[in-house]
Amino acid sequence: MDKIEIHIKNIKKSYDIEFCKDFEEVKKKLKEEINNRNCLFITDDNVFRKTKFFNIFSNKKTLVLKNGEINKNFESINKILKKGFEEKLDRESLMIAIGGGVVGDMVGFASSIYMRGINFIQIPTTLLSMVDSSVGGKTGIDNEYGKNLIGTFHQPKKVLCCKEFLSTLKFIEIKNGLSEMIKHGIISKNKHLSNINNLANELKKEFKESHNSVNLINKIFNIVPESIKIKKEIIEKDETEKNIRKFLNLGHTYGHAIEILSNFKTPHGIAVAKGILCSLNESKKQKILSNNDLINEYKVLLDKLNIDYSNIFDIDSIKNAMTHDKKNTSGIINLVLVKNKGEIIMGNFTKEIGNE
Ligand SMILES: NC(=O)c1ccc[n+]([C@@H]2O[C@H](COP(=O)([O-])OP(=O)(O)OC[C@H]3O[C@@H](n4cnc5c(N)ncnc54)[C@H](O)[C@@H]3O)[C@@H](O)[C@H]2O)c1
Ligand SMILES: [Zn+2]
Repeated sequence: MDKIEIHIKNIKKSYDIEFCKDFEEVKKKLKEEINNRNCLFITDDNVFRKTKFFNIFSNKKTLVLKNGEINKNFESINKILKKGFEEKLDRESLMIAIGGGVVGDMVGFASSIYMRGINFIQIPTTLLSMVDSSVGGKTGIDNEYGKNLIGTFHQPKKVLCCKEFLSTLKFIEIKNGLSEMIKHGIISKNKHLSNINNLANELKKEFKESHNSVNLINKIFNIVPESIKIKKEIIEKDETEKNIRKFLNLGHTYGHAIEILSNFKTPHGIAVAKGILCSLNESKKQKILSNNDLINEYKVLLDKLNIDYSNIFDIDSIKNAMTHDKKNTSGIINLVLVKNKGEIIMGNFTKEIGNE
């Protein structure tokens, strides 16, 4: 797989996701893309220190932010904008995000408001950002009212996806990414979920011991394009989340609440994995899901992948934390519910269930 084309209705917003075998290839493609334009690299301290990317491609104009969801805020956006002005970026310039979903969402947002919008490139460095956050143009930051409540839709000019980044990731970050891949598998009718299942069977030992091996990374990277294609099909039809793009929020209303309640100690992907189980259980409660088969299949898969789906927060605190979710309208908590694998509907808490 060389590339996946993303076609947005407004053709000017369409772009390619290109797959690179190593950092050298990223460097080559990035150089072509930059083409002597003024550009600012933005990354975080972990990516800067732990990966060899910056040994290969050093750029004087690099801003290194502090890593972590806790820093996904206006302060960091201000740093990006300020650095942009210091480095004299203009409307032809590029911002380049080299990082996970936190860096990617922030650079997307900063580039969308810098001089009323300039181009940016995504170089996702986590599994989660490869399969999910670098694709589709959702940008944003958190504030005291909740996650991603401030943001824009701003499509990147290009996404460069390179396997080499995965080798320095902590194992928990592999699980974070897999959670979003499983989400794609559940909302789609294709074979992605069973492919993840096969992978879980084959790599049971690695998952039990929570360690990255070259074999594991290769196998997972092989199915990254499947996941991206599921997201692609959806966002091409609904760029700004008026209808079917909402399905990609499966597990996220719960997940965001779990992230907040845990003070961001539960990472996004794991919170989503727990949130998906809450959504499946709620679907069953509301008799949208007719039996427990999918719930059981989901739990067995998470067990094999050694992903913890237990939930220490009670449903009332979760609901309370959910009230600021931007997916809610007129005080009703909107939920993505599951009828069957590949059959998703939008719903909410019923009155009776709300009183539980
Ligand atoms: N825009 C979207 O459509 C969308 C979709 C899904 C998630 N998100 C957002 O993405 C964020 C989660 O992204 P994430 O899981 O990538 O988190 P992250 O960006 O916080 O990265 C996770 C950790 O891994 C470190 N890291 C990143 N790349 C590394 C590498 N190659 N080697 C070693 N360490 C590395 C980071 O410094 C960080 O500590 C959340 O804020 C979530 O809201 C956005
Ligand atoms: Zn997510």
